[in-house]
Amino acid sequence: MGAFDAYQKAAVAAQEAGDYEAAIPNYLLALQRAPDHFGLLFNVSMCFYNLQKWSESSTFHRKYLAFRPDDYEALYRLSVCELKLGNPTEALTILLHVAAHDYRKPYVLNNISLLVGELCPDLIDSAAGSVIDLDDVSARLGLWSFQSSKTHHDLREFFKERPVATPNVRARAAADMFHIEYYDSLCWTKTFWRGIPLLKCPLDLWIYQELIHSIKPDLIIETGTFNGGSALYLANMQDYNDVGRVISVDISDRPRRPVHPRITYLNGSSLDDGVVACIEEAASGCERVMVILDSNHTADHVFDEMNVYSKLVTVGSYMIVEDTNLGGNPVWPEHGPGPKDAVEEFIKTAPNYVIDENCHKFMMSFNYRGYLKKIAR
Ligand SMILES: C[S@@+](CC[C@H](N)C(=O)[O-])C[C@H]1O[C@@H](n2cnc3c(N)ncnc32)[C@H](O)[C@@H]1O
Repeated sequence: MGAFDAYQKAAVAAQEAGDYEAAIPNYLLALQRAPDHFGLLFNVSMCFYNLQKWSESSTFHRKYLAFRPDDYEALYRLSVCELKLGNPTEALTILLHVAAHDYRKPYVLNNISLLVGELCPDLIDSAAGSVIDLDDVSARLGLWSFQSSKTHHDLREFFKERPVATPNVRARAAADMFHIEYYDSLCWTKTFWRGIPLLKCPLDLWIYQELIHSIKPDLIIETGTFNGGSALYLANMQDYNDVGRVISVDISDRPRRPVHPRITYLNGSSLDDGVVACIEEAASGCERVMVILDSNHTADHVFDEMNVYSKLVTVGSYMIVEDTNLGGNPVWPEHGPGPKDAVEEFIKTAPNYVIDENCHKFMMSFNYRGYLKKIAR
């Protein structure tokens, strides 16, 4: 094997193992031998991106895009790099090009809305119905070359009709920007309840506390136990009510989960017939059942879970779908169809459920539109 192949092989192996620090020098050595290899440029740009090294990632994204100018996902990531580097106008210009390709992507529109709200909030506030006037925006920001392009023309027509920014755009922008920074910092992986890690935002846990206090569920069903931190939190909230049990199911069995008399752990898939039968049995006869779906976050899995577990929720109680923020709402745009897509699909055909907007009152939630209240059988 030649030196190029050896470096490339080592780099790919390290990247696949998630060791981006080790992959990068090998990619750079391989690139010295093949500077126009756009596959390598792409990979190294992703390694820097995953390490949140925005300047290097921007540089390599640009080198890669010179070969693949129509890779709109890469353009989107480049805009994120520019945003993180404190170049919002550049980020907006790139995003507007991405939007011309596919303006239905919610995270692209969301970020355009955020950036316009940040860069020229008065244009948003004064615009009737919060519709972006792209002529005003691009003139204000001096996007002259962009203004004469076909992209600009197409988008101007599009934005004339489409309210991309809500009237309280500054509050939303602030909340979403904070949400992105909060999420990207990964502090939610270092959040603990009484010493046990749980993958939740404290603002959502406060909503949980309020719901558990008012509903006093005699059964809480949780899919996705992880280390058991959330199950312990739910059981402790039930301790204050002096009533209730928690059944938490996970496909993998982790040792040293917290023991609590209210908690029962089940091992298996949340969609496994045996697991479902066991949970149905536990729910039968309960007067107030709450469900929290926090297992596999693909849209298909969540949608199937919603169909199975929605039947067990009692009227007046909730089915909570965790992590609707994935897929660019507003975090992790590359995630693909996720919990939010499942919710939007489910709610179309479930007139007995409503999305409880009150649960968004803290502005930032990992479960935006994920608090579904059952209003009828
Ligand atoms: C996001 S974590 C759960 C976090 C936990 N509820 C918390 O707040 O700390 C997702 C968990 O779902 C589990 N999981 C993945 N697919 C599953 C499935 N089909 N059925 C049940 N659990 C699953 C994973 O093993 C993982 O522990």
